[in-house]
Amino acid sequence: MTAPVIDVHLDADDGQVRRAQRARRTLAADPPFVDPVWFYDEHGSRLFDAITRLPEYYPTRTERSLLEAHADEIVAWGADALVELGSGTSTKTTLLLDAMARAGTLRRYIPFDVSEETLRDAAHRLTDRYPSLAVHGVVGDFHQHLPTIPDGGSRLVAFLGSTIGNLAPSERRRFLPDLDCAMEHHDRLLLGIDLEKDPDRLVAAYDDASGVTAEFNRNALRVLNRELGADFDPDAFDHVALWDPHQRWIEMRLLAHTSQVVTVPGLSEPLRFGAGEGLRTEISAKFTVDGMTKELWTHGFVVDEVFVDAAQDFALLLAHPYC
Ligand code: SAH
Ligand code: TRP
Repeated sequence: MTAPVIDVHLDADDGQVRRAQRARRTLAADPPFVDPVWFYDEHGSRLFDAITRLPEYYPTRTERSLLEAHADEIVAWGADALVELGSGTSTKTTLLLDAMARAGTLRRYIPFDVSEETLRDAAHRLTDRYPSLAVHGVVGDFHQHLPTIPDGGSRLVAFLGSTIGNLAPSERRRFLPDLDCAMEHHDRLLLGIDLEKDPDRLVAAYDDASGVTAEFNRNALRVLNRELGADFDPDAFDHVALWDPHQRWIEMRLLAHTSQVVTVPGLSEPLRFGAGEGLRTEISAKFTVDGMTKELWTHGFVVDEVFVDAAQDFALLLAHPYC
């Protein structure tokens, strides 16, 4: 058994300082917002794991069943390395690794995530489970560190869970070309996207009855308190999930139920929220297969195969860079 190798890019450069600077900027913006990276400390990763098991939250289950049905086809072209962007707890990963093992091509797993603890746990777990697998983790931000992904071999780059939907359209326009640059012509991209559907089901998936998603959302304020020295009172904010029919995304917000004054060190003025005012915390865009196929084409990828469940809730797109 080989011990996992983990490259850490978030401490190695001034990433943390830049993230804090950006957070102060986005909090002071009008309207104020926060970036997704602020959700995933250890507690946030655990809450996210709980979200994936909620009855209302269909995406994880559906994507898992698509992987169960199609993993062999997905790796059949000879993938010998699996790169996973935003790998989190690497739970669905074993379906792809098992398929590569069945095909006799399994060599390397490269999880890539901002959350160092979660990535280390997953790397050790998978090394135990697959003794001959070389695990080479990358702790980094996929908006900055895609060029650091180890190369060599035939890489399947998986970006699952519709995490791409949490990027704003302008971020996707930078991310996809960056990803195209980081990939070789013979690599493949496996992209999981949540499809447009009845808004009531979408809202329920992001505002579950047991309040787990609300806690996950409020956790961003706890992380901001800890990392920036801010003094948000997370319990003073209500979780709201809205379907925006023009943008085609679910927007999550945290709204103050009484007026709040929040001090953020480094900002010249405190943040003031009246009752009912607050922050935009996250978007989760919904897609069509055609729309995403065109978007990928625009940024250098051609889609080879599409896997969709019978209810047309979720899709996996297998693509490759065309030059
Ligand atoms: N792929 C898993 C987890 C999805 S949650 C699944 O499908 O269930 C999104 C993951 O992306 C989290 O683990 C989070 O830490 C990571 N993430 C979010 N923003 C990121 C960024 N900018 N760079 C790298 N990882 C990021
Ligand atoms: N990318 C997934 C989604 O958009 C998971 C996710 C990210 C999520 N942030 C979330 C789920 C916030 C619920 C709440 O569905």
